[in-house]
Amino acid sequence: MSGRVQGKTVAITGASSGLGRAMALRFAAEGAHVVCADVRSDPREGGEPTVDVIAASGGSGEYVEADASRWDDIDRLVTTAAAHSGRLDVMVNNAIVAGPHSKGLLETEEDDWDAIMAVGLRGVFLCCKRAVQQMLTQEPVAEARGRIINLSSQHGMIGAPGHVAYCTAKGGVVNLTRQVAVDFARRGIIVNAIAPGKILTRPADEPDTPEVLAYSHSRTPFSRLGRPDDVAAAALYLASDECSYVSGTNLLVDGGWMAY
Ligand SMILES: NC(=O)c1ccc[n+]([C@@H]2O[C@H](COP(=O)([O-])OP(=O)(O)OC[C@H]3O[C@@H](n4cnc5c(N)ncnc54)[C@H](O)[C@@H]3O)[C@@H](O)[C@H]2O)c1
Repeated sequence: MSGRVQGKTVAITGASSGLGRAMALRFAAEGAHVVCADVRSDPREGGEPTVDVIAASGGSGEYVEADASRWDDIDRLVTTAAAHSGRLDVMVNNAIVAGPHSKGLLETEEDDWDAIMAVGLRGVFLCCKRAVQQMLTQEPVAEARGRIINLSSQHGMIGAPGHVAYCTAKGGVVNLTRQVAVDFARRGIIVNAIAPGKILTRPADEPDTPEVLAYSHSRTPFSRLGRPDDVAAAALYLASDECSYVSGTNLLVDGGWMAY
């Protein structure tokens, strides 16, 4: 087998569900060893755990229970990933907490703000820091010691009506991506973000409201909303050696939302 990330070690936070799961399955299908980190192994949307699906299709992966907002957990995640082949080639910082914590300014309590920021922004900082520590110890492959992919959002660039902390965290992720890219480009670390538009990842028993779907369709020039595989395909490019001389960017996978 010779995939586009053949033999690379990839760690993904929030890999049990949604986009993290789709990226994990795609990376494994393309020959990577995928270290799937999450606070739960069962997918929010149902089905078998990501690592079980990878194993059943002949891929290579392992599950690490790790809370993206805790340094000790991320330290253990990166140490575990690097133990597989001696290096961490790709770190994907995807985990998010939003749900009932995500509200408008006047409804958001300090605890809501802290819950979203802990995973959505502080967690991305911790993961970038620990990944860079590891990557700096590695020899370059195709000019890169390592690659980092942060999941931002179209709502990191524009307002998301009624979602003040989420929107602020994602704005931070966009500029954190640029900052780490700038600081470590000369040392061979490639850092990019993916900004999904509306991708259908909600569990069947917690569906998007008709209002959310109508708003998303009204903002999306494509006739359909996004699929997790749309994001996985973009992540695969950013993770592969084909992605050269691209760093600090925020790749929109949004069906044209931000062009509208
Ligand atoms: N789905 C979309 O439309 C969309 C749009 C824009 C941006 N995004 C971004 O894409 C990423 C993935 O979104 P999704 O829709 O797949 O989310 P999701 O809610 O379906 O999955 C998130 C995963 O993160 C895990 N998680 C939660 N807290 C964690 C923690 N502390 N440590 C580790 N893992 C934790 C959850 O258990 C879950 O498996 C997020 O960063 C999200 O903000 C998604």
